[in-house]
Amino acid sequence: MPHRGTAEAPAIEIEGLVKRYGELAAVDGVSLAIPRGVCYALLGPNGAGKTTLSRMIGAVARCSGGRLRVLGRDPWKEQTEVKARLGVVMQDEVFDEDLNVLRNLQIYGRFYGHQGPAYEEKIRGMLKFVQLDGREQMPIQALSGGMRRRLMIARALLNDPELLILDEPTTGLDPQVRHAIWATLRALKSKGMTILLTTHYMEEAEQLADRVGILHKGKLIAEGAPGELIGGNLARYVLEFDAHRHAEAFEALAKLAAAERHGDRAFVFHDAEETLRGWTRERALAGAQVREASLEDVFLKLTGRTLDE
Ligand SMILES: Nc1ncnc2c1ncn2[C@@H]1O[C@H](COP(=O)(O)OP(=O)(O)OP(=O)(O)O)[C@@H](O)[C@H]1O
Ligand SMILES: [Mg+2]
Repeated sequence: MPHRGTAEAPAIEIEGLVKRYGELAAVDGVSLAIPRGVCYALLGPNGAGKTTLSRMIGAVARCSGGRLRVLGRDPWKEQTEVKARLGVVMQDEVFDEDLNVLRNLQIYGRFYGHQGPAYEEKIRGMLKFVQLDGREQMPIQALSGGMRRRLMIARALLNDPELLILDEPTTGLDPQVRHAIWATLRALKSKGMTILLTTHYMEEAEQLADRVGILHKGKLIAEGAPGELIGGNLARYVLEFDAHRHAEAFEALAKLAAAERHGDRAFVFHDAEETLRGWTRERALAGAQVREASLEDVFLKLTGRTLDE
């Protein structure tokens, strides 16, 4: 049923969406519906089309084909109206480098018609929320990568967005900053904010996302809750070992259970952890590891690649 109203429309509705750059379909027929209040992670390796897809959703880029509705509206044709209801943090986001933190946020607010004491108060609150309080007078150039990323998030939130879109919010940041950003996003999630994020960190998707879409070469190849994706594709546990070192064992185990080999790693899947531990002992698989199957394994199974290849 088409939603003409916008308050009750799903956050994002996509049907057969395409983005072409010359011969290349960077996004190649993606269909997807994201309800409100969900944290959705688009997971994929470099070049999968994550940025391209999030730019179209974020009303930053136009699509070449298909249908796209964001908060019930066409983000390109109704760009101003849609943008006013979104918070967007893109990979190539820029600040006015010569101005300090506070001035940057004030100027951003003016663009949307916000100023005055209440707005100043809001800026202060938002800087505190992302742990940048006390940094108001710092020039942008003096911010570390992590502070800059947190400032981008604060800026995107100043508008009280209904949907927050983040393109690789923690790529290149050290683990401590990454965890701080996860905590911020979790807090927003618990307030019911709808979040779409892209990532090539499986752990980020597992930590934050209610649902995950795996993007590969412009196509959405799997979609669902992390547990569903793992359960629907793989047995519960995996035995991983060096495929060269234990080549014979791999051939033998591949006859007993689902098994895959990717480069120099061998993977054997089974629902009973004890069975895998037994095989490890019987075949003296030095250096082998038994662990729960993960999204990374799903990705590897579906694409034959690892996420950071
Ligand atoms: N402006 C552009 N012109 C031409 N090709 C482009 C353009 N932007 C992206 N592409 C191509 O589209 C494909 C998808 O790129 P995209 O940036 O969406 O991938 P990504 O999943 O965000 O990758 P990354 O993890 O490296 O950020 C790539 O092959 C890329 O080279
Ligand atoms: Mg990208």
